[in-house]
Amino acid sequence: MKLPQIETANTHIQLLTFEQSHLLCDYYQRNKTHLHAWEPHRTDEFYTPEFWQNQVEVSINMFDKKQAVRLVVLDKEQTQVIATCNFSNIVFGCFQACHLGYSIDKNYEGKGIMVEVLQAGIQYMQNEFNLHRIMANHLPNNHRSAKLLQRLGFEKEGYAKDYLKINGRWQDHVLNALTLTFHGISQKQGNYL
Ligand SMILES: CC(C)(COP(=O)(O)OP(=O)(O)OC[C@H]1O[C@@H](n2cnc3c(N)ncnc32)[C@H](O)[C@@H]1OP(=O)(O)O)[C@@H](O)C(=O)NCCC(=O)NCCS
Repeated sequence: MKLPQIETANTHIQLLTFEQSHLLCDYYQRNKTHLHAWEPHRTDEFYTPEFWQNQVEVSINMFDKKQAVRLVVLDKEQTQVIATCNFSNIVFGCFQACHLGYSIDKNYEGKGIMVEVLQAGIQYMQNEFNLHRIMANHLPNNHRSAKLLQRLGFEKEGYAKDYLKINGRWQDHVLNALTLTFHGISQKQGNYL
């Protein structure tokens, strides 16, 4: 399957190459304080170039196996990473679903760029992977994330106790999902076990 290359008004979205892997390392180093309350606890290794060289290879491997699409968002000049948009846990058959995770650089927050990126990413997943359902969950106090999901049409579906280990402790999450129009692939595939 062809690797994604997606253009939006303000960004260029792709899977990074091995040579570009340092750009993701720079992104996480620059945004360490900005992201720490909303993401899993990171060890020192997470901020090293070697870690990201390996992750770029893992991403391409997972894409080839249709397990995950870990999109990286660059500025138009493709000089720096400004956001991430990960579609993971892709399941086919009678579920056709995945999880979505995302973050944006502190300097690009509050400009409508994340919504622009996610709209493009969701459209890509719908067209290329025929997904029917995308699930995205947030901490109860992550109001920016809640507003973003609402803007995209996600609906709140529930509340899960001690759902994910974020910033070093198990924390409750609000569960949300977006149901997409199906293209009839189920008829072509049929006979799910
Ligand atoms: C969650 C997160 C991605 C939201 O990013 P964001 O930039 O607020 O999201 P949007 O792209 O929807 O931008 C919306 C803001 O841009 C403003 N905006 C400016 N121009 C806009 C435009 N043309 N279109 C839409 N919104 C625009 C909106 O008014 C809104 O501002 P407000 O929230 O102050 O009212 C970001 O806060 C983040 O990375 N947080 C840390 C990591 C994180 O929480 N990840 C998610 C874990 S669940």
